[in-house]
Amino acid sequence: MRLGRIAAFLAVSLAVAGSAPADAHPRSDDGSLRAAARGTGVRIGTAVDMSALAADAPYREAVAREFDTVTPENVMKWEAVEPQPGVYDWAAADQLVDFARKNGQLVRGHTLVWHSQNPAWLTESAYTPAQLRTLLRKHILDEVGHFKGRIWAWDVANEVFNDDGTPRDTIWLRALGPGYIADAFRWAHQADPKALLFLNDYNNEGVNPKSDAYFALTRQLLAQGVPVQGYGIQGHLALQYDFPDSVLDNVRRFDKLGVRTAFTEVDVRMLLPADTAKVRAQAEGFGLLLRACLLVKHCVSYTVWGFTDKYSWVPGVFDGEGSATPFDENLRPKPAYATLRDTLLLARR
Ligand code: G3I
Repeated sequence: MRLGRIAAFLAVSLAVAGSAPADAHPRSDDGSLRAAARGTGVRIGTAVDMSALAADAPYREAVAREFDTVTPENVMKWEAVEPQPGVYDWAAADQLVDFARKNGQLVRGHTLVWHSQNPAWLTESAYTPAQLRTLLRKHILDEVGHFKGRIWAWDVANEVFNDDGTPRDTIWLRALGPGYIADAFRWAHQADPKALLFLNDYNNEGVNPKSDAYFALTRQLLAQGVPVQGYGIQGHLALQYDFPDSVLDNVRRFDKLGVRTAFTEVDVRMLLPADTAKVRAQAEGFGLLLRACLLVKHCVSYTVWGFTDKYSWVPGVFDGEGSATPFDENLRPKPAYATLRDTLLLARR
């Protein structure tokens, strides 16, 4: 399936240069991203906002039409699934898993151990370290167990390093020490041995101190027999900063290590207002990451963190920034959409 990846890269480069080969689109397709991704070995996905999925029919139709994996943007996070100790609420997450099954989509579970979006009751003052370890173990066994057989890949450990490659100071590191990461993977594997288990972070696209830390950690976990199967690169880029270099080198070294890779939360934000030049430059950011994924053997998926500006998380967090996704607020495709589709089509074999 991946034999044609180098050729695909050359074809993509030629197309960007304006001289795509005449047979560049060898198969018929319905014009969607998921049809374009068929045969590339890379699944194309989106984060899903469950309120939008319930209320907005065009949004719902686009999720089903364009993508072959989905990731819950918020509803599988600990605060969402266990709002009170021992009181679970799987309703919204179950709805997404059912939606995915009906539409022939796989689900990326997000996320099991993180420093953010934990329940308000989960504090260091309320529990001893031993109790926190018991709670984390129970959380992972219960959540992964609840979805057993229905989740393709889990983001097990999310954002565990700082940008300088030092371990992030979190409730888990403080209470349990660095071994909490290996434990989280072991518990997830125990609860669903078939799910692919990923590390996941941002600012780790290229070779840098943070991705070096992940490389060392992955090698160490593998050497210890810990069931880690993937390295997730969120891919939150911004036009006002340089795009990362050495993305392909980085993905390739994890590929050679024997783990899968995935781009898990891609978006490319910009200072507002958007204009033609900016949305074209944005398309290059989306394409840069997708090309790296297509060029290695074991990059299994490329997910955008929301596909429409109508529901993107960006304006709420970065003042004066937005327009970060491939569709505008009216669900009309932007140049990034064409870049993603063309890049996928050229990689099909
Ligand atoms: O659910 C409440 C709602 O009851 C309340 O009325 C509303 C008022 O602000 O807030 C709602 O919660 C918000 C939640 O999203 C659900 O919409 C939170 O305030 C808001 O902080 C939260 O933001 C999410 C963010 O993670 C939190 O860290 C974003 O939607 C989500 O896109 C974002 O996703 C993260 C990934 O999980 C990890 N990588 C980075 C990425 C972007 O920050």
